[in-house]
Amino acid sequence: MRSMIHSRVDAITTRQRDARVIPMARSIARAPTPRAARRRVRARASKSSKGGRFPPTAIVDARHDEFARSSDRARGRKDERACDDGVEAIWALSSREGAAACARLWARDDAGGTTTKRETTTTPRIVLTHKNENLYNAYACEMAAVTRPAARAMEVGMFAAANGGDGTTRACAGTRAEIMPLACAASAEELLETVEGMRVRVETRAVAFYHDCVARNARRMSSDEVSRRFRGVVARWSARGLDDSRDERSNAMRFAVVEGLGGYVFGLVTYAPSPSSLSARAVDWARKPRHFSAGTRAEIALACVNVASAHDPRAFDARSGDSVIVDPCCGSGTMLHAAWTRGFAAAGGDVSPGAVVMAKQNLSHFVARAPESSAMPNVIERDALVPGAFDDAYGCKGKRVRALVANLPFGRRVALGGGDGDGRSAPGASASEYAPALEKFRDVAERHVFISGVPIAHEMRALGYENVTEVSLCRFGKSFMTTALGSTATAPLEPSVAFTVEDALANAAGKSEKQWEKKSKKKSNVELSERFSNPDALRVAVDVSYEQDSTRARRSVAKQLCECVGIAHREDALAMTYCDFSGPIAEESREFFFSDRWSSVKMDPRSVEEAFDARDVVYMSPDASEVLDEVDASKVYVVGGIVDLATRGMRTSLTRANASSFRCARLPIREHRPEQTHTVLNIDAVVKILCGRHRGESWDDVFDRELPKRQAAERPKRERRERLA
Ligand SMILES: C[S@@+](CC[C@H](N)C(=O)[O-])C[C@H]1O[C@@H](n2cnc3c(N)ncnc32)[C@H](O)[C@@H]1O
Repeated sequence: MRSMIHSRVDAITTRQRDARVIPMARSIARAPTPRAARRRVRARASKSSKGGRFPPTAIVDARHDEFARSSDRARGRKDERACDDGVEAIWALSSREGAAACARLWARDDAGGTTTKRETTTTPRIVLTHKNENLYNAYACEMAAVTRPAARAMEVGMFAAANGGDGTTRACAGTRAEIMPLACAASAEELLETVEGMRVRVETRAVAFYHDCVARNARRMSSDEVSRRFRGVVARWSARGLDDSRDERSNAMRFAVVEGLGGYVFGLVTYAPSPSSLSARAVDWARKPRHFSAGTRAEIALACVNVASAHDPRAFDARSGDSVIVDPCCGSGTMLHAAWTRGFAAAGGDVSPGAVVMAKQNLSHFVARAPESSAMPNVIERDALVPGAFDDAYGCKGKRVRALVANLPFGRRVALGGGDGDGRSAPGASASEYAPALEKFRDVAERHVFISGVPIAHEMRALGYENVTEVSLCRFGKSFMTTALGSTATAPLEPSVAFTVEDALANAAGKSEKQWEKKSKKKSNVELSERFSNPDALRVAVDVSYEQDSTRARRSVAKQLCECVGIAHREDALAMTYCDFSGPIAEESREFFFSDRWSSVKMDPRSVEEAFDARDVVYMSPDASEVLDEVDASKVYVVGGIVDLATRGMRTSLTRANASSFRCARLPIREHRPEQTHTVLNIDAVVKILCGRHRGESWDDVFDRELPKRQAAERPKRERRERLA
């Protein structure tokens, strides 16, 4: 029997392999258009194509019910290892280490947490969120507000929702997938043993298996091995075998293993948001036509809206509700868009006429793409601080303002009351500067969620706000999310955050001290002409001639050029030229990175061919066959100004260099760091490596320092996460 199943699985995999071969053969016959090729490469490069990303799981509860029924049958027969419900029960299956890790992770439960076994009414879920530490506290806040009883943070990227499955967490900004946990263990081997003992039967469907790593476990099994071995077990559970297609219409029951610091969880994927529906296109804020440098991150905006509306989301329904969410400082409209995507009635205003135009353009762009959606949020030009500003519910007739969300103005680009913030580059206004706005906003709504550059909870409490909770949105205390749930809150908001406001402020203080030390240690005063006349200076050029296919890519190139200016500031013996520096990148650099003040690099509108003798040029390309050994001051090392993932793997820089018959070379990364998975580096990383080598350091030393650790075999944040756990 077993061999029969194996042969069936083999047959399926062979068929799948063949299915993959055919389109490739076709693609050779008919060359894809450059755009199609780019899209294909992007799909390959993007995370969404990796096994860890969950394909959309549409028919949620039917799968869950069916699985529960079949596991009940298994339990009845008493010959199977039954799946357990209850997060605690699942963790109890784990080994001693797993249980200890879990106890550490769940330590907050003893200190007044709300998740107890008695309260667990439905099967709990593990909610996977994006693995972004900067956003994690916002997700934690949102999970705490939205789920009842509150979800508990297990670690960055992973929550346990005691009453998951009722759909509440599915509206959360960070939710990537929900998993009904079936088994858990400290190591993959132990988990595999348990899962092998389960012998589940899925009668009518194919099965699929996914693996995701939230954080790398100390006793880890390689991802390939996890996938291979668990797939083998899961494949046997259905006579229809495996169907790993990412097709939304696939009817397969999806199982997953998630690896975290606390151990491995195995479970049934009960929900994963769809990335491809029309509404998904309409909700992708990254596609907005107008960008605003002081804009709020889309995930943070959605988290704010969710927290603000969590007590009574139906009241905010644009069609049937009587309440409206207002953002009185709407800027480009991120908060309003987030509310609109949830079908809420929203309205906003801004003191700046430019911002009002921007918000209207952005919102109408999305509304036009989702005709079935609710009406476009109202946006008006209004100073939120004038008396009576809220009297007409920001133009929403018949509705009352019940929730107020705002990213409060701060810093160099925006100041309270409009204006340029006095050219301040500091992260925020002081809490006392916010006081007039906070006082004004206090009585106009029941609930408030603010994003600010400094902590304002203390100020808010002093002004009489009730039920105030504040979290830092990043480890280094640059922005904060403060919620005041007023008297509507049934219980105080208790997010289980990754780092506290105090931690963040202490980190920020330490960091700015360190930065100050670093700055005061070295700053070059060498004139540009001196650099270029120094025969020993390292000559580097960045070739900015590449066409970037998105604003994001242009912004990223400009940012990296700005980073390189910082390197030149510190390196006296560096003569750096930006070639072909004109057009959109130059504009982007001027507008967002103040390129008018870049004094340590030469910005040359000429191409590399015009600016240098071709015999001196060594064009750096990760695809070159020549391996660079020494760095020679008589040469010019040209780095391609490419960042877009879409161009990766397309040998873009090599093609460009070959077209002009330049000598091409690559850094000896593969030779010195075979474990490095990606050899395509940022522009500034290449420049730093060349500088280090030019100073006489060994390749090993420079790679140790400059190669991004994230791409090496071990993750840099692992220890920090372990500490947090
Ligand atoms: C941090 S930005 C908001 C960003 C916005 N959430 C977005 O995503 O684009 C702050 C905004 O507050 C506006 N502002 C400043 N003072 C204001 C006031 N007194 N009344 C209304 N808006 C104000 C600024 O013009 C700016 O657009």
